[in-house]
Amino acid sequence: MKRALIIGVTGQDGIYLAEHLLELGYKVYGVRRPSTIPEASQRRMKEYNNDIFEQITWIYADLADGSSLRRSIEISQPDYIYNLGAQSHVRLSFEVPEYTADINAVGFVRLLDAVRALHAEKNVSIYQASTSEMFGNSSTKYQNLSTPFNPLSPYASAKLYAHNVGLNYAKSYGMKIRLGILFNHESPLRGTNFVTRKITRAVANRSVHGVKKALKLGNLDSRRDWGYAKEYVQAMNLILEKGVESEYIVATKSHESVRSFLEKAYSVVGINISWEGKGVDEVGICSSTGDVIIKIDPWFYRPNELDYLCGDFSKIKHELGWEPKTTLNELIELMVQSDIYKAKATIV
Ligand code: NAP
Ligand code: GDD
Repeated sequence: MKRALIIGVTGQDGIYLAEHLLELGYKVYGVRRPSTIPEASQRRMKEYNNDIFEQITWIYADLADGSSLRRSIEISQPDYIYNLGAQSHVRLSFEVPEYTADINAVGFVRLLDAVRALHAEKNVSIYQASTSEMFGNSSTKYQNLSTPFNPLSPYASAKLYAHNVGLNYAKSYGMKIRLGILFNHESPLRGTNFVTRKITRAVANRSVHGVKKALKLGNLDSRRDWGYAKEYVQAMNLILEKGVESEYIVATKSHESVRSFLEKAYSVVGINISWEGKGVDEVGICSSTGDVIIKIDPWFYRPNELDYLCGDFSKIKHELGWEPKTTLNELIELMVQSDIYKAKATIV
């Protein structure tokens, strides 16, 4: 039986990846962080599918603590390690830049050195969750492995450090390290402080509970290449086990603005939006009731914005046969319907 250790298993991708690996017959070990309220980080997985929670062998560890990473490797004796653990919020990385660097950059070095300290570098294959944020605002229509990196945030800078260290250690010590550069991917399990889920939850709360308060957002005109997280974890598994190169891009090769995502999400419940005003004074108005349902709050602006991302996934398609299947319209529909279901479940 193949053994996989997942760091970041309680996050969106970790939950889907654990589900996928369990379905493939792996023994899955999951890292959880010590917490005074353990239910908080486990709730997402338990509500989605309690069987996943029950089937994982849990180990307490933290990317800030090298000794705990060594211990987690000793306990799990993994064939595969997936490092999905991160402070993954770009806007918040400007609030906690040192912490973001410690976890997202140095944390990966701690993990690699834990593997080396146990002389396991020839036995373990390691996946690192790299990101399209590393490209920054490039001048190309599609970002691919020839596009220069130009990180715009502490988050992206830390991820690029980890990415480069992954390449260094693979070359220096002959370690099998695979770097998946994933573009944005969303799902009903997405954290509620990322823009897509923040929107779909607000749509559901307005539709089910009649919440009247306007949704406050930041920049509506940035464009992202949004795919479905459940499909992206399958790409991670292929990259780690079948990938012959160090780096792969996972994306949909299409892009949409936050504004367009929002309009599509509200249209699922029959709400059309018209726009008035400019900049921080712009508002989104419900065309049928005249209510202001969207406002701009500059707090959600970033000190440095990434305006456009659109990834070229041709390499993973040709080499590993992976390609995206779910369209953005389908993804929006399934996220809104999931949030409507959850909102109805809270009515007693
Ligand atoms: P997520 O939902 O924010 O999950 C992050 C995970 O990392 C959680 O399990 C979290 O645990 C864990 N974590 C945080 N700090 C940690 C620490 N100090 N030690 C160990 N674990 C820690 O993120 P996601 O969307 O699933 O993304 C997974 C990975 O892919 C992240 O590294 C992210 O940066 C990267 N990525 C994501 C996307 C995307 O669009 N989703 C795109 C490219 C790359 P708690 O539950 O305890 O907080
Ligand atoms: N979070 C958030 N909240 N973003 C907003 C808001 C808001 O209220 N209003 C507008 N936005 C804009 C952001 O400025 C950004 O341009 C876009 O919506 C997407 O923001 P997020 O959903 O926070 O995602 P992200 O693109 O910054 O980062 C995600 O994708 C990266 C891959 O490209 C995260 O998952 C990262 O961890 C990941 O690496």
